[in-house]
Amino acid sequence: MGDKKEQEEVEFSSEANSSLTQAEKPHGEETKPNGKVQPIQGFSKLTKEQKIDHIIRIYFKGDQKEKKLLKSFWNDEPEVQKIFDEFSENTLSNFVFPFGIAPNVLINNQLYSVPMVIEESSVVAAASKAAKFWMERGGFKAEVLSTKKIGQVHLSWLGNKEELFSLFDEVKKDLFSAITDLNRNMKKRGGGLIDLKLLDKTEWDEGYYQIWAEFETCDAMGANFINSVLEELGRTFKCFAFEKLNATEESFQIIMAILSNYTPDSVVKVWVECPIEELADKSLGMEPQRFAEKFKKSVRIAEVDTYRATTHNKGIMNGIDSVILATGNDFRAVEACLHTHAARNGRYSSLTSCNIENGIFRFEAELPMSLGTVGGLTALHPLAKMSLKILGKPSASELMEIAGVIGLAQNFAALRSLVTTGIQKGHMKMHLMNILNHLKATDEEAEEVKRVFAEKVISFRDVSEFIKKLRDYQ
Ligand code: MEV
Repeated sequence: MGDKKEQEEVEFSSEANSSLTQAEKPHGEETKPNGKVQPIQGFSKLTKEQKIDHIIRIYFKGDQKEKKLLKSFWNDEPEVQKIFDEFSENTLSNFVFPFGIAPNVLINNQLYSVPMVIEESSVVAAASKAAKFWMERGGFKAEVLSTKKIGQVHLSWLGNKEELFSLFDEVKKDLFSAITDLNRNMKKRGGGLIDLKLLDKTEWDEGYYQIWAEFETCDAMGANFINSVLEELGRTFKCFAFEKLNATEESFQIIMAILSNYTPDSVVKVWVECPIEELADKSLGMEPQRFAEKFKKSVRIAEVDTYRATTHNKGIMNGIDSVILATGNDFRAVEACLHTHAARNGRYSSLTSCNIENGIFRFEAELPMSLGTVGGLTALHPLAKMSLKILGKPSASELMEIAGVIGLAQNFAALRSLVTTGIQKGHMKMHLMNILNHLKATDEEAEEVKRVFAEKVISFRDVSEFIKKLRDYQ
């Protein structure tokens, strides 16, 4: 504990930048003799250049090569870089991830090339492989079941319960009226605040109630819209409580107003199915019936064992997150939602399920998520905009279908490998590229390594020893 606090406190120190006057210099400039650094105040007030200088000086002993490295990731176009700088605070540079494409993703008879942003080797390859496999078997099917979002105003009322409920019924219309302006644009697009309820949560905590609000946000994820509406609802209801229930700051409090990232009613269903014999593929190395049963068992294990479920779902998130990132959506929100869903029955379990009935293999998932294709980062990040163009400017519902399908494809690819060749074969082949880059292998060395290791188990040690021998030999 103590260590952690100390670490947090010493996170930043600054001699900032020699161009600052003494008065402008942030406090805490000295590096402690033991090498730890002191807290800094006013880091955010420094210019970008000053922030970089500070970090380079404290953490890299002023090494200008490190500064050059940071700057090498700046965008050449100053106006593009400005957009990136303004996404967040205290930005020094851009952190680059690969932007790839999974081609041939057939969803509801429409073919997509799906942009994916992910650093893990083999994810895009696995999605592409699964997409091709299912394209030849009718493709993926997807259906958005509903798109309702939830927001909550959490409040505390220590007075009479019945009076609070009758007040809510009495002023419900006025609550809707209070958000007319905020709601206007969303309403024009066919969405807005749909319903309001007051919920009694006093069993959970003394005096705890919720205004439960349901929203349709059309093609926007709608977080800002929902939160603004909720805050206005909270303010308005408080005024009514003070006016009509003689509430006081002691007896009535709006604790907080915020959307819920759990959206069980914003859900997409995705699936693939085919007669078992159509699963036949020589790369499986076994009869389709045996493959189908083994595959089904692997899903069953993730349904009953939480340890396995976590890894199983992680594989699904490899696919979903990479689409979410590529399209400028909020992957933390989608992660939080899906993991809550995975634990909805009281035990963390598989997000996918598999059935074999009357000789038909069916693999599916119902995945709650809240996505947007307008507003937010989708409109600002140049590559997010490009991703949406590549996808044919989808609606939010269509994007839910695409992301869900890529999650299912990813899971299919992982389980297919796990129950046939094992995961390492494909994984390490892709990982070999990372190893070769790490060892700074020349093109000739890389070719030689690929040839020699084509049928071998790949390990960093073996490859590095092999390259060393090649180099010694020359
Ligand atoms: C690796 O990122 C994901 C897998 O572990 C998923 C799984 O085990 O199902 C391969």
